[in-house]
Amino acid sequence: MFEEFKNITNSEAYKKAFQDRMLLRDPSDPYKLLGNTQRDDFIPHLEKLIASLPPKPHIFDVGAGSGEIVDLVLSKLDSAEITIEEPNSILLDQYRKRLKAHSNLQLVVAIHKSIQDLYSHHDIVQSQDLVLAIHMIYYLSDFRSDKLAPNDDILNFVSFLYNLLSPNGTIFLVYAYQQMSTGGKAAKHYFLQKDKLAYKNLDAIWSARENLLHMADVKQLLDARYSQSSARIESRITHSYLYGKNLEDIAIMCIAGELGCADDEPFDATILDVCFRFVDEHADDIGLCVEERDCPQKGMYRCNQPQIICTITRG
Ligand SMILES: C[S@@+](CC[C@H](N)C(=O)[O-])C[C@H]1O[C@@H](n2cnc3c(N)ncnc32)[C@H](O)[C@@H]1O
Repeated sequence: MFEEFKNITNSEAYKKAFQDRMLLRDPSDPYKLLGNTQRDDFIPHLEKLIASLPPKPHIFDVGAGSGEIVDLVLSKLDSAEITIEEPNSILLDQYRKRLKAHSNLQLVVAIHKSIQDLYSHHDIVQSQDLVLAIHMIYYLSDFRSDKLAPNDDILNFVSFLYNLLSPNGTIFLVYAYQQMSTGGKAAKHYFLQKDKLAYKNLDAIWSARENLLHMADVKQLLDARYSQSSARIESRITHSYLYGKNLEDIAIMCIAGELGCADDEPFDATILDVCFRFVDEHADDIGLCVEERDCPQKGMYRCNQPQIICTITRG
């Protein structure tokens, strides 16, 4: 099992999990993704936001991945200026190529760095009408550290992005509800066996996300830091799914969250063995079943991957 994951880098493994499986497209409809329903669930909310943007908006996509969102949503804009930040060079190149196919979207700059590396360089991406932070929040905290400060990590991140917004600009933040998701539960299972500190830290990180973002506690902190503005925060949960052609695919997609990494170090394929055993032995806990409903994923394996959609607007 998992032969294709031997002797490759973390970035390559991540691409196989995220792009090739989670974002697997329906061969009969290239705009439909088979590998997950998270996008179908958040896109209507994003489209509503996009419809309210000023003409020729500035959009900053952080942890941008390969730019699937361009085909699915951004390409519908009459025109826009896009800045992207992404530490995985394979995915960043794909995003650049994707933008070239859309003459209405102009690339301002593609930044090959982690978001944390930009905190002291906010001058390069000022006055954004929309910041997209889609399924990338998993990489803000070093959960192997004994000096974990998850509240600060989230606050520094949100505060940095908030400071880049023009008046009425919005941060569109989406992330898997890891306490309940297959990927989150697999990560907890892995760290319980391999790294007790990381196991404990994940709880602290997820609880910080819950309080600051889902319960909107970050508002008070932003309003105190930026006294000229008043933040408006909305948060909702969607019950979304992952789909795989087999159980191996489901195990592989578990590395698209905290178990994955964007660097060029060798990938440790034993992570997948642990994830596979987890998926196989905890079917009820992750809602594992074969999809029987009449939908494009009929016959595929399905499991739970709920997500939180949080919007933070600078009022
Ligand atoms: C699940 S993917 C989401 C990609 C894209 N936002 C999307 O929704 O299609 C998470 C992305 O976060 C990137 N990432 C990892 N560590 C990061 C960091 N420290 N700062 C910014 N992005 C990071 C990964 O390389 C990956 O492309």
